[in-house]
Amino acid sequence: MTKRIFSLMVSMLVVVGTVGYSAALESVPKLSKGDMVKAGDLYFDRCSGCHGALRQGATGPNIAPEKTLKKTLKKLEGIIYNGTDGGMPGWGKAGFMTKAETTLMAKFIQNTPPEPPQWGMKEIKKSWKVHVPVADRPKKSQNKGWENFFGVIQRDAGKVSIIDGDSKKILVTLDSGFAVHILRTSASGRYMYSIGRDGKVTMMDLWSNPIKLVAELKTGIDARSIDTSKYKGKKGNFMDKYAIVGNYWPPHYVIMRGDTLEPMKVVSSASYTYDTNKFMQETRVAAIVASHHAPEWVLTYKEAGIVNLVDYSKIEEGTVIETKINAERFLHDGGWDSTKRYFLVAANMRDTISVIDTVDRKLVANIEVGTKPHPGRGANWKDPEFGPVWATVHLGEGLVSIIGTDPKSRKYKKNAWKVVREWKLDGNSLFVKTHPKSNHVYCDNTINPNKNKVITVFNSKKPNDPPVELTFEKVVVHMEYNKKGDEVWVSLWDKEGELVVIDDKTLKIKARIKGLVSPTGKFNVYNTTHDVY
Ligand code: HEC
Repeated sequence: MTKRIFSLMVSMLVVVGTVGYSAALESVPKLSKGDMVKAGDLYFDRCSGCHGALRQGATGPNIAPEKTLKKTLKKLEGIIYNGTDGGMPGWGKAGFMTKAETTLMAKFIQNTPPEPPQWGMKEIKKSWKVHVPVADRPKKSQNKGWENFFGVIQRDAGKVSIIDGDSKKILVTLDSGFAVHILRTSASGRYMYSIGRDGKVTMMDLWSNPIKLVAELKTGIDARSIDTSKYKGKKGNFMDKYAIVGNYWPPHYVIMRGDTLEPMKVVSSASYTYDTNKFMQETRVAAIVASHHAPEWVLTYKEAGIVNLVDYSKIEEGTVIETKINAERFLHDGGWDSTKRYFLVAANMRDTISVIDTVDRKLVANIEVGTKPHPGRGANWKDPEFGPVWATVHLGEGLVSIIGTDPKSRKYKKNAWKVVREWKLDGNSLFVKTHPKSNHVYCDNTINPNKNKVITVFNSKKPNDPPVELTFEKVVVHMEYNKKGDEVWVSLWDKEGELVVIDDKTLKIKARIKGLVSPTGKFNVYNTTHDVY
């Protein structure tokens, strides 16, 4: 038996050998230990997001040595330095990498990828810090108007500021992880959590005055998403009880106590792809949302194309119950429809929005949209002709795709899960936003080099009217409403950055909040807690 497995492995090796290394190959360039480390760090910062730490490919193709050794060093340098039309950024041309760094990187990707470090429960536990024990925290809020506070990410500074939405004052600026990706709140709204790209979670108590960092934990090496338990109903009250982080590396998710971040369980996300059943060790957890209908989180497994419903109701016994739903590959970001029953998520390299019904627990549609949809959480409103809709913008095309979301009503069900309307933008976009009380839909143009200081505003009640353009002094990114839904906050993304507050009715500037370092995403406590978008 053992012998047979061994010979099978040998014959497999031979096959891999002939497939992978048959063409004339470059010899593997030698790199010193120091250069390997330097290149490894650079690769992690600039490349792994799209190509993966093991280089097996995601948004970008597989660039493991069996592929890269078929190209000359010169050819690779050209691709890295100048980029390509197919979506590979030009790192040299854009001024992010020198010629020497480009050469180093080309050599590095012809070498076998170094094994990225592991980060299991032992390392996670060691990083855990509680700064303010639960017993020392206030029982009632000491801050008036805290539900209209905003958390603002200052990405390059590694900080998060809390701003009072009423007075527009910066209340506090606290340390966070590196390059914070998003902020989320607990089900009550009291706690705000940040997740850094470096896997570090920080947790802020919005009830204490001054607002304090109460706990922190490093869940992995590379992370993107965080959410909290929001369910309250027949199956129990789980509000504020737990939090979950989804990692890129190691490929796993971590469940924590919601009030202290004490780590409870680590679960691998390594998976087979849903369609070809190929094993992908590096199956990364991209987005997470918390169900309001069940004690469950909804996780997207990027490389596998699987949506994983994780039931946390038995976590005190150490048990999670997973329901894995086939969707589409390269799942990235997404959000709820207005009823919070359907989760719409972008499979961005497949130009598809997958729709998951979290009550019937199944995929209800894969909808073809434009090139590389990027909804963030998307935007919900009621179209005068088509009824309830949800929308996404695109990374690869100037297009807003608007999808019908009401399969239950007689009037609108024929529109459900179809693109019912499209709006044109002049180029690629990162975010779209509206609010149930607003008639406006805002799109940024941050990644359109010709228009990155402009926000494009459509009228959702008069969807055939041409959009209005709001022009700012600096690159502008990401929109968020206040609690009442009558102001829109945008970020001027600059070392000397600021937030600009727009009156949603008149589209006039109402206030400016200065003194922020490269502000990007911002999250209103009430809207984030209740998933209003
Ligand atoms: C924003 C996503 C993204 C990032 C970040 C990125 N790439 Fe790419 N890369 C791509 C895409 C998409 C392609 C395919 C381009 C095409 O087909 O024209 C690609 C292609 C390549 C190729 C050519 C592969 C082939 O088979 O032809 C190489 C080599 C490469 N990338 C290396 C890198 C390196 C090194 C970095 C970091 C310095 C990097 N990439 C960062 C998206 C990315």
